[in-house]
Amino acid sequence: MTEGDRAPLFDVVVVGAGAAGLMCAIAAGGRGRSVLVLDHANRPGKKILMSGGGRCNFTNMYCGPEHFLSANPHFPKSALSRYSPWDFIALVEKHRIPYHEKKLGQLFCDRSSKDIVDMLLAECASAAVEIRTRTPVSIRTLRAADASWHLLEAAGQALRCRSLVIATGGLSIPTMGASGFAHDLARSIGLRLRPLRAGLVPFTLDPAQLEELSELAGVSLDSEVRAGEGCFHEHLLFTHRGLSGPAILQASSYWAPGTEVEIDLFPEVDLASRLREARSARPKLGLRSFLAEQLTRRVAQRWCERGLPDQPLGQLGDAELETVVQACKPWRIRPAGTEGYRTAEVTLGGIDTDALSSKTMACRDHPDLYFIGEAVDVTGHLGGHNFQWAWASGQAAGQVA
Ligand code: FDA
Repeated sequence: MTEGDRAPLFDVVVVGAGAAGLMCAIAAGGRGRSVLVLDHANRPGKKILMSGGGRCNFTNMYCGPEHFLSANPHFPKSALSRYSPWDFIALVEKHRIPYHEKKLGQLFCDRSSKDIVDMLLAECASAAVEIRTRTPVSIRTLRAADASWHLLEAAGQALRCRSLVIATGGLSIPTMGASGFAHDLARSIGLRLRPLRAGLVPFTLDPAQLEELSELAGVSLDSEVRAGEGCFHEHLLFTHRGLSGPAILQASSYWAPGTEVEIDLFPEVDLASRLREARSARPKLGLRSFLAEQLTRRVAQRWCERGLPDQPLGQLGDAELETVVQACKPWRIRPAGTEGYRTAEVTLGGIDTDALSSKTMACRDHPDLYFIGEAVDVTGHLGGHNFQWAWASGQAAGQVA
């Protein structure tokens, strides 16, 4: 008998006590499976705790496949349709957690993100799930086709499991315990990875751009930001390092380094008509004051300093009005880069979905091995979609693992 044959045997081991891993453990434990969750961090659900500014935007009422990026946009459909936002809301309501819609279907805790972690831990406890934190994990042997278990090492102890679920998330916020565990494992067994990069992340600007815009730090504007195929109408925030705010974070997931971002400072407004109307109705109004009505005083001043004709509207000809329109609809800027994984909310790319079953998240070529959550090449828009993917993919694997 080898050491492996004598090691404790669990039906399911989940590596990663984050959103996806805990949800998977609850579902598998609820089916009567013996479940062990392992995490190298000092406590479970650390990203949940810091999410949504401490109030966890735990789902989005309008979550659907159109809110996700993936090389295969059809892949998330199955899991998302079988575990919907309403299923998670029912769980939240069962635990009497007060919540509210902030905007655009985004649901947040009234009190704190801790309510969601406590809820998941309570569900784990009632499903007899064991959770071990501060536990480094390595995989000694993946289950072969003719064997009945995988062999792991957890904090120096050998463990066996019939099903192994990898839920170690993406690379964002390494200080919170993020690691490339899932990606490294996938590479080591020959699975394809889609290129990894930071998503939902602020843009940085080069020193010359920053000098021009630094006085605007703290100003927030309604805008429509377009990068690649992504276009988002939300707020933009000028910062000391560049550009942030929900519209920018959303667009960053579609941005290719070196390309321009188009920022419409007058979204859904026919600026040329509005300028002509104002020129007739209020000819003495200065251009700066006109712009300040929409763009704030500081931005209007800066835009005039950047070469717009700051004169009474009545003195501006059609060509000058057109210059104003060109500078605002859209304002084009080429970011120097992004803040990277240090502040990114998500990691784009990941394990190619071709390797996985969309129904169960099981790896096609490796029996009883599952990948769920952010480690997989499925990334949501801002607004609760990423947690919904974590819950739904965790639930899909937990139903069969
Ligand atoms: P998650 O990262 O949650 O969990 C992975 C777990 O694996 C962690 O506990 C980690 O410690 C563990 N782990 C990693 N490597 C390991 C290793 N080698 N060995 C053992 N354990 C290991 N989304 C949303 O929908 N609404 C929101 O409000 C927010 N807000 C938000 C704020 C911030 C600041 C960030 C960084 C992210 C968000 N997100 C979000 C995104 C959301 O947090 C993210 O998509 C999910 O947490 C992903 O869930 P996972 O379970 O896949 O990974």
